Amino acid sequence: MFFFRLFFCCCRRRNISEDTWTTSNEITKRTKNSSRKGPSDLKKENDSQGSRKIVTTPTRTTINPVTLFPSSELLDRNKEKAQAHISCKNEWEDVKFLGVGAYGYVRLLRNVKTEEFLAVKEVKCKSSSSKELIESIIHSQLDHRNVIRLFFWRKFGQTLFMYLEYASGGSLGDLKGALAEDDALRYFEQLREGVDFLHSRGAVHRDIKPDNLLLTEDGVLKITDLGLCSIFVWRGVQVPLRGFVGTEHYMAPEIFTSRSYRGPPVDMWACGVVLFNMLTAGLPWSRALTCHNNYVLWVHRRKKIFTRKLWDKLEGLSSLSLLKRLLVVDPSERDSNWHQLRRQENRHH
Ligand code: ADE
Repeated sequence: MFFFRLFFCCCRRRNISEDTWTTSNEITKRTKNSSRKGPSDLKKENDSQGSRKIVTTPTRTTINPVTLFPSSELLDRNKEKAQAHISCKNEWEDVKFLGVGAYGYVRLLRNVKTEEFLAVKEVKCKSSSSKELIESIIHSQLDHRNVIRLFFWRKFGQTLFMYLEYASGGSLGDLKGALAEDDALRYFEQLREGVDFLHSRGAVHRDIKPDNLLLTEDGVLKITDLGLCSIFVWRGVQVPLRGFVGTEHYMAPEIFTSRSYRGPPVDMWACGVVLFNMLTAGLPWSRALTCHNNYVLWVHRRKKIFTRKLWDKLEGLSSLSLLKRLLVVDPSERDSNWHQLRRQENRHH
């Protein structure tokens, strides 16, 4: 049911009036009729790890933010926060910048009375039906321990403010050096939970990478930045996605080579690269393309690959079998859901 409503919402985009202040439920009251999106435009940016982030306007983002009702408990919580923020603006202080990205800024706000923290993502959105609004609409419906909460959002002129849960422990991308296998697997398990939740809601992230995996003080991993997220289920049936989308080190081979691809397997692949990165502090290849030597060696399972510096670190680790199931070149042979993966793992042990 959730899929249908989310997808339905996402399939007919509506204009959203300027200076919109909304919690999830208010979206329904403030929408008007829509226009369709134009052809994809390709944009390349550098992300903080120095890899090229390739962003196209996703083709499956004709989204309509109506009829989505989060749980009443969630609504109450959101309303309270929104209300508090509107009525007590003077109680919030701007603490510091948390990050600057291609999308805009993230700043940290602190409520001087309650000591509550919020991260505010500030994004320029040119049109009143842009993909940033779509991100907010999808994101505001997702409530899981391993996904950063979007409490509410506000559009003021051409700027969208997204009020997010604050994760004070930096990102997985900030961690220096390789992690011990146990630590890597603990993070991986949380990543798996978060991604599994997104997939269960019909959403595919499409930009899973260490910079987008935030940590709390107590080491809870939270997936963030749903800017390239898309919906991949329509009436219970998976629909193919299009668009050259993601950060190239983490992009599955089919994104480079196919016109369309299935949603969940591209996230599974990216999770495999993240696991590799945690275990080795390096990246397996710059692109999953046959012009890249390490990738060719991996595809052909050449023994030589294990003599290379990074790959050496993996030898003998139990995670290697997990990597081999995630980094399967053919997406139809790649485990496409976590339950399948877990069954395989149990069979192995
Ligand atoms: N950087 C970007 N988003 C953030 C968040 N929600 N918490 C902490 N740092 C961030």
